[in-house]
Amino acid sequence: MSALRPIICPSILNADLAMLGKECEKMLAYGADWLHLDVMDGHFVPNLTFGPPLVESLRKQLGPKPFFDVHLMVSDPLFWVKPMASAGASSFTFHWEAAYEKGGDGEVKEILKSIKENGMRAGISIKPKTPLEKILPYCEQIDMALIMTVEPGFGGQKFMEDMMEKVRHLRKNYKNMDIQVDGGVTVDNIDVCATAGANVVVSGTGIIKAADPTAIIEKMRLSINK
Ligand code: DX5
Ligand code: ZN
Repeated sequence: MSALRPIICPSILNADLAMLGKECEKMLAYGADWLHLDVMDGHFVPNLTFGPPLVESLRKQLGPKPFFDVHLMVSDPLFWVKPMASAGASSFTFHWEAAYEKGGDGEVKEILKSIKENGMRAGISIKPKTPLEKILPYCEQIDMALIMTVEPGFGGQKFMEDMMEKVRHLRKNYKNMDIQVDGGVTVDNIDVCATAGANVVVSGTGIIKAADPTAIIEKMRLSINK
């Protein structure tokens, strides 16, 4: 479907967090393209995960090569740009809702500028109830748009197929942009995501709980390549 590179990103949110380094190594061995790291501040979403110190430890353990796709579900994204870059994040995806509530359009632009100055790829995400129009003004400046397919906060929720309308609309207008979907994506609904135009796929429980994660990752990649 897409000429864009398929990128499969296991989310480690539902991994054994006491063994995180090993869990990440396993995901890379299974064929993960990127590691999706979900940062939650207990304020923007009703859950708490981790911050730069853990990202830095993972970077030390895994070395310079793995791509850390950091998804920030936090109320003050700008504050975390520099610390995340120093910790070793490769990509910084923040929520439009958080940025806009803090300081409107100026805040969104400031965050994008800071991400670039700090050498990371820039992504903007929207929650399911947020209209796509809100992020269209920034699409020329970002590397990736993340369309949430669940309410952010927890792994293991049900995929919202009606979000595919946003993906289709984006893909129609931005042929070369990385479009990521996140939330409830499994091998059973990957075709729906790929047909709509997503080429970057986050899957947490869909990969971690699979009997054969290597086969699942490969199947997901093939679906996007179709
Ligand atoms: C939800 C997170 C997701 C989540 C995905 O807020 O952003 O990355 O961990 O997990 P699954 O695939 O289980 O929905
Ligand atoms: Zn995520």
